[in-house]
Amino acid sequence: MKKDLLSIYELTTEEIEAILQKAKELKEMYLQGKYYRPLEGKALAMIFEKPSTRTRVSFEVGMHQLGGHALFLNPQDTQLGRGETIADTARVLSRYVDGIMIRTFAQERIEEMASFASVPVINGLSDLLHPCQILSDIFTIWEKRGKYRGLKVAYVGDGNNVANSWINGALRLGFDLWLACPPGYEPNEEILSRAATEASSKIFLTHDPKEAAEGAHVISTDVWASMGQEDERQQRIKIFQDYQVNPDLLRWAREDVLVMHCLPAHRGEEITDEVMDGPHSVVFDQAENRLHVQKAILTLLMQ
Ligand code: CP
Ligand code: NVA
Repeated sequence: MKKDLLSIYELTTEEIEAILQKAKELKEMYLQGKYYRPLEGKALAMIFEKPSTRTRVSFEVGMHQLGGHALFLNPQDTQLGRGETIADTARVLSRYVDGIMIRTFAQERIEEMASFASVPVINGLSDLLHPCQILSDIFTIWEKRGKYRGLKVAYVGDGNNVANSWINGALRLGFDLWLACPPGYEPNEEILSRAATEASSKIFLTHDPKEAAEGAHVISTDVWASMGQEDERQQRIKIFQDYQVNPDLLRWAREDVLVMHCLPAHRGEEITDEVMDGPHSVVFDQAENRLHVQKAILTLLMQ
């Protein structure tokens, strides 16, 4: 049976660990200059209904390095933009390609794609979730600290797709997660309460960034206005101003705290230049690891 990657929640701990392990092997091979082409002759369709730099480039280069081919499809240039349904698009693409990666607005659109496609479907970001990003972030923590279980991860900022996927990650991998979000901007309630019930790790929600940052091994953040929320940006800048990741906040964390951001950053809003370019920041390593984690996902789903 085909396996999709729609949400970290739908993966078992063992499946996530297999992705992380595979990413480690693939990164080592890549750094040693070794060729590995298990996807020779295979193709990945990449549908982008929102912009992207990292996700597009890492999937496209990843497919190339694995011996396959990736097609960039945007709605304006395909019949999706003229009203062809997701279901029909899924059926048609499945006759040509071996996998579909989709970045869009509603998570339901990705789920619909997966239910009509006969090939694996990968969530490249929705309004609700960003699983590939968080798998890559967990890989980065593992790479830097040799473990993730038992660590305190603080997420400071908007309770968005990235925050929701951090919750699913904490639930499956057993690190403690503290989310500091302004009132009214908390993560998805269903995801949060499901995790609170099922988690072996501890997942806390606070409105105080310092409480989240206190003793943290990792502080992560993301933009205050996500793609599709551009109109709210000025209003959000006011609401979120106490949630900036800056040197004052870092003082509450461990001395060796890792600072993470999925990027793109709005420097001077959710994170200062000083922190983003400072010694704690691993933001570009995170971005680099997208390539290796994407390759692991592609290999495990499409081989
Ligand atoms: N972090 C991330 O997904 O970046 P892009 O929007 O550039 O793909
Ligand atoms: N929360 C951000 C993540 C970008 C990678 C957004 O959805 O725009």
